[in-house]
Amino acid sequence: MTVLELYASFELTGFSTAVRELWWVFPTILVFHSLSMGLMAGIGIVCALRALGFARQIPIAMFSKFQPLLWVGLGIAGASGLLLLAGYPAKALTNPLFFIKMLMLAGAIWLTVRMTSTAPRLSSQSPSPARLPALLTIGLWLGVIASGRFLAYTHTVLLASWLVVGG
Ligand code: HEM
Repeated sequence: MTVLELYASFELTGFSTAVRELWWVFPTILVFHSLSMGLMAGIGIVCALRALGFARQIPIAMFSKFQPLLWVGLGIAGASGLLLLAGYPAKALTNPLFFIKMLMLAGAIWLTVRMTSTAPRLSSQSPSPARLPALLTIGLWLGVIASGRFLAYTHTVLLASWLVVGG
C-alpha cells in the first residue's frame, strides 16, 4: 500500500468524511485553531516585544506566569490541528509547507519557552542580550501564522481518494 493509498483509505472513514462534510465541523475546528494561535503567538510576541524594550514598566520577571497558558494553547492547537489533518490528510502531508510550518512552530515554541524561563535572569542584565532571539521569536510566530494560512492555497493534492480510487 502506498502512502497516498493510506491517506485515501483514511479519507473514506466516517470520521474523516464527517470532519470534511458536516458544514459546521471544519469551521468550528478552525475557530479553536485560530484561538490557540492567538494565545500562543500572542504570548510569544508580547514577551519578545518586552524583551526588545517596549512597555518597560512591565516586569520581565512576570513572563514565566504565561508559560502554563502557552501549553494550554499548544494543547488546543495540537488537537484542532490533528482534526484539520483528519479531514484532509493528503492536502497537508503532501505539501512541504506543512513541514516547514511544523519546524517553525518547534523553533517558536522553543524560543518562547526559553525566553519565559530565563526571563528573571535576563531582567537584571542591561542592555538585554536577548535582542536577536526576541526578533527571531517574532519572525517565527509570524512565519507559523503565514504558512498555516498559505496551506489553503499551495496544496497540490486536495483528496488522495480522488487520485487513488477515482472518486
Ligand atoms: C500544533 C500543531 C499544529 C498542527 C498539527 C496544525 C495543522 C494545521 C492544519 C492541518 C491546517 C489546515 C490546512 C488546510 O487544510 O488548509 C492548519 C491551518 C492553520 N494553522 Fe495550524 N497546526 C498546528 C499549530 C498551529 C499554530 C500554533 C498556529 C499559529 C500560531 C497555526 C496556524 C494556522 C493557520 C493560520 C491556519 C490557516 C487557518 C485558515 O485556513 O483559516 N497552526 N493547521
